[in-house]
Amino acid sequence: MDTIYITGGRPLGGTLAVQGSKNAVLPILAATAAIPGRFALRNCPAIRDLDVTRALLEGLGLKTRFSQGLVTVDSRGPLGSAPDPAPAGKLRSSVLLLGALLARLGEADIPLPGGCVLGTRPLDIHLTALKTLGVQICPENCRLLCRGRPAGGTVILPYPSVGATENLMLAALGSAGPVRIIGAAREPEIRDLAAFLAACGARITGAGTPCLRIVPAPLHGAVHRILPDRMEAATWLCAAAAAGGTLTLTDLYPDQLRPVLEALRLAGCEITETDTSLTLQAGPLRGAGTVVTGPYPAFPTDAQATLMAALLRGSGVTLFQETVFSDRFRHIPALRAMGARIETAGDLARVRGVSALQGAEVTATDLRGAAAMVIAALAADGESKIHDAWHLDRGYSDFIQRLRSIGAEAHST
Ligand code: UD1
Repeated sequence: MDTIYITGGRPLGGTLAVQGSKNAVLPILAATAAIPGRFALRNCPAIRDLDVTRALLEGLGLKTRFSQGLVTVDSRGPLGSAPDPAPAGKLRSSVLLLGALLARLGEADIPLPGGCVLGTRPLDIHLTALKTLGVQICPENCRLLCRGRPAGGTVILPYPSVGATENLMLAALGSAGPVRIIGAAREPEIRDLAAFLAACGARITGAGTPCLRIVPAPLHGAVHRILPDRMEAATWLCAAAAAGGTLTLTDLYPDQLRPVLEALRLAGCEITETDTSLTLQAGPLRGAGTVVTGPYPAFPTDAQATLMAALLRGSGVTLFQETVFSDRFRHIPALRAMGARIETAGDLARVRGVSALQGAEVTATDLRGAAAMVIAALAADGESKIHDAWHLDRGYSDFIQRLRSIGAEAHST
């Protein structure tokens, strides 16, 4: 998609089945490079980041197919150790091939990764932990030359980095002895990776807690169903809160969205839940108090922009503090162009509800920022044009079709 055109002011309604999780499927695909075998992954989303990851794996010699939500991978053949820098540069999660290739080959030449620009995104936690486990790492010409399988031992992460935890879990698959990760990330996507690796024969305990343990074990192919995407779910809920109406989401785990649901309830939405579905009925919006992003189970940074966009109209004030990334307010100028009242200072953004928003021509800056602009446009009077809408293709399958299916007046070029 290049540009999305939205005519705002129409309430949303209907039912959507939530897609499989982007942030779960990408590490699991990287993991298939670590283990020789055949894999079948169900409930995969049709998103650009998945296509890019498949291109990276194919470049290394894996065979992959994708059809109707099913990705199959055959990683039994010989494998290269140097991923192609072109696809790797488009994707932050390409750095997970470091752990996967070290486990399988004992060497990896990793191009520096891409992904959304959200401020500095260093790799020091990944690299320090791998070095602690005995891996040699030498930066050279925008690549990391890494040699040696991990020796086993204990690493203590100074911050529960999701990517570093995943990289270490993958590297530990080829380790000479047990690996303990203290201070590990606890996100549901970490638990999904652990569940996939367990299906492959890995002996992993503690996933979802700050202390993970991986004991070397013989590994093989597996079948796995990808977790529902809590960030896609948050996006649709915020869209309905902003535009008004009643929306039901199925195929998700509301428990994994707790802080987002609490914020939306505080802001005036009525939400009813079952174990695997949700219905949101929008009400007149007021503020949601203070929303502080942080590692799971805190409010997810990936839902900060979309919740902000949902709360632009109405009577209240909401204070956002973004503690995970240093540059994750890039959507705010576009929201202001639609009439939002937002003041920023450092990692804080204060939203004061306004009585109306106006459609505007804006340019998307990153994946969730683009979703935020769509949400604001749904709540605005008149037409909005959102350029660089391709950001949405990275993480949302059939975005426009799904938006239209719940009543939005939207099309794209
Ligand atoms: C992060 C989010 C994850 C989200 C993903 C996609 C958190 C904790 N992580 O995961 O929920 O799904 O983005 O948007 O919410 N950092 C370092 N050194 C490192 C690694 C990370 O300083 O070696 C810093 C990062 O710059 C960032 C923070 O730690 O400020 C979180 O990074 P990390 O969890 O690794 O990011 P992702 O894995 O991309």
